[in-house]
Amino acid sequence: MILLLVYGLSILLFILIFLWILIPALYGLPPVPTKQERIRKALRLANLQPRETLYDLGAGDGRVLFIAAREFRAKAVGIEVGPIQCALIWLHLIASGFGDQIQIKWGNFYKADLRDADVVFVYATTTETMKLAPHLEEQMKPGTRLVSISADFPEWEPSALDERELIFVYHMPPKRGSMMSYMLKKGL
Ligand SMILES: C[S@@+](CC[C@H](N)C(=O)[O-])C[C@H]1O[C@@H](n2cnc3c(N)ncnc32)[C@H](O)[C@@H]1O
Repeated sequence: MILLLVYGLSILLFILIFLWILIPALYGLPPVPTKQERIRKALRLANLQPRETLYDLGAGDGRVLFIAAREFRAKAVGIEVGPIQCALIWLHLIASGFGDQIQIKWGNFYKADLRDADVVFVYATTTETMKLAPHLEEQMKPGTRLVSISADFPEWEPSALDERELIFVYHMPPKRGSMMSYMLKKGL
């Protein structure tokens, strides 16, 4: 009987770990959150305004969505491939009463419709940003800001940069160039 219980719990634990960590990892990004102060700096650098719509590509535990809604009074949409992450954000949404301002969508950000975004937030690796670039260029309307944490978009020139925190902002349509061309122009 006890053996059966241990066996059942081990299977349950394996399924939870699979859903929580392995599914995101299979898609290429581990569930590593951004520090809250870095998120605030990024949203300020992207000049997120009240009532604008922010998308977080890979919403994780939802912290970017809640900071955008609570502190910037923006609407926030999270796209997240991990089902456990989506369920936890959804529960947090119900408990916090931000249901009018925040939406969570279970899905793949390479297929996300971003046409109503004003600001898009992404925390990914350079491999991912290079893969994402054509989709973002096709989906994001002119004037939309893209804010990227840690990884730049190697073929685009940022319009603003926090070099200490490694935060890159791009305006759509993207300007051809690189972080280097931006730094040379600014004399950095
Ligand atoms: C590095 S974490 C960032 C979480 C959050 N944006 C933050 O800054 O705290 C990346 C998240 O992207 C999710 N993810 C990875 N690939 C994805 C994909 N193709 N579509 C949607 N979400 C994805 C992972 O599950 C993970 O939660």
